[in-house]
Amino acid sequence: MSLSFSFFFLLVGVLVSLPAPAQAHGLGKEKVTHLHFYLHDVISGDKPTAVQIAQPNVTLGVQSATPFGTVFAINDPITSLPVINPTTIVGDAQGIYVSTGLEKLGLVMMVDFGFTHGKFNGSSFSVMSRNPVMEGTGREVAVVGGRGKFRFGRGSARLTTYYLNPANGDAIIEFNVTILHY
Ligand SMILES: *[C@@H]1O[C@H](CO)[C@@H](O)[C@H](O)[C@H]1NC(C)=O
Ligand SMILES: *[C@@H]1O[C@H](CO)[C@@H](O)[C@H](O)[C@H]1NC(C)=O
Ligand SMILES: *[C@@H]1O[C@H](CO)[C@@H](O)[C@H](O)[C@H]1NC(C)=O
Repeated sequence: MSLSFSFFFLLVGVLVSLPAPAQAHGLGKEKVTHLHFYLHDVISGDKPTAVQIAQPNVTLGVQSATPFGTVFAINDPITSLPVINPTTIVGDAQGIYVSTGLEKLGLVMMVDFGFTHGKFNGSSFSVMSRNPVMEGTGREVAVVGGRGKFRFGRGSARLTTYYLNPANGDAIIEFNVTILHY
């Protein structure tokens, strides 16, 4: 088979697959969901939900609670209001974040946000994104996928630091999320 011949079939395959409606795959209609919640990143104390798991053995880049090259694992509660108690917890976020800003503080997050209450109980969405923490209010992170009700999800989240203890790094982050899913 010549190169141009196989290329022709590849092209036909692409053209045919593009217009296929999502309904044909049993996905139903696309929906838009907005979510508003708070993430609690607890580093201090004897029950931290965010722990440092690696760091470089040299001092590089910005000095902060999360200097360049440090990696954290998290299992942070997420709540409907900015306080943590049994009535406000709606799920948890599990994953890692890496301090990746050499010149100024910045993180990259690989985190799954899972829900244990309400209509999205058992479902989760994934953030795999730069988190430009120095941009402050409304900084954007990318939502790249999801499970359960968020299957084939994609979207965007706006983050605002609601509370930060600069001495130990404890933080409460407000999330406003918009997800397209089926
Ligand atoms: C960092 O690791 C390298 C390679 O193992 C080692 O040679 C060096 O001494 C270490 N530096 C410090 C400050 O521990
Ligand atoms: C969430 O789903 C789990 C598993 O189906 C169930 O056991 C639990 O009771 C649900 N929680 C709420 C608050 O609905
Ligand atoms: C987040 O959403 C809440 C409620 O919908 C709104 O009051 C707030 O202004 C939003 N914040 C940002 C940064 O978008």
